[in-house]
Amino acid sequence: MTGGSRRATGRQVQTTDWAEWHRRYDDGTGPLARRLEVVTDVIRVAIHAAPAGTVHCVSLCSGEARDLVGALDAHPRAGDVVGVAAELDPALAATAARSLAAVAPGLRVVVGDAGDVELLVPHLPADILVLAGIFGNVSDDDVARTIAAAPAMCHEGATIVWTRHRTAPDLTPRIRRQFDDAGCTEVAFTSPGPGDWAVGVERVVSRRPDASMPTRLFAFR
Ligand SMILES: C[S@@+](CC[C@H](N)C(=O)[O-])C[C@H]1O[C@@H](n2cnc3c(N)ncnc32)[C@H](O)[C@@H]1O
Repeated sequence: MTGGSRRATGRQVQTTDWAEWHRRYDDGTGPLARRLEVVTDVIRVAIHAAPAGTVHCVSLCSGEARDLVGALDAHPRAGDVVGVAAELDPALAATAARSLAAVAPGLRVVVGDAGDVELLVPHLPADILVLAGIFGNVSDDDVARTIAAAPAMCHEGATIVWTRHRTAPDLTPRIRRQFDDAGCTEVAFTSPGPGDWAVGVERVVSRRPDASMPTRLFAFR
């Protein structure tokens, strides 16, 4: 096991093996693979649409960074992209670093706790902020705190892409309202339906630097 989250269920404690979790991408047809396609496409399009010059991407809890790697593979603007993928698990981070180096040398991987704002601050603000695979693994309060802080982590006009499962109770309606309240406008919301996965895309319209920046965004359950 390469690390993971612990979740109490009655008398047992379940641990998520994140390396094993990533293998679910490999069949290429399952729900996670479909979600990855959507996230990848959002990032690819956002890089295309970014103003000329440097495009600053930041991905929290990036895992193997398959979304960034897919988006940047043969992308005509890959050379413009800089930023970081922050991942706690050193083995997953090493995989991400190898793959990213091949497609976008301006992106690097930071091994560490992406919930710790101090780790993130030197790498902000972002033009594209990727929050994939986080909101289903942290408390509702942590989701709210991360959303409230997200615009301050970005340039005005930035794209934020987020994911969350829609298993009952479906938190996505509240998440979408919380992004509105934080100063974002929704660009897209894609989901096969209730009980399934969801990908949201937000544009930062009103940035309130420092206003809602806590010292910690989230901790995985
Ligand atoms: C559900 S996976 C998502 C991976 C990737 N974003 C994706 O969507 O394919 C969650 C990832 O978060 C990482 N992780 C968990 N807690 C973290 C933390 N505090 N800081 C950074 N990464 C963390 C895990 O190691 C795992 O790779």
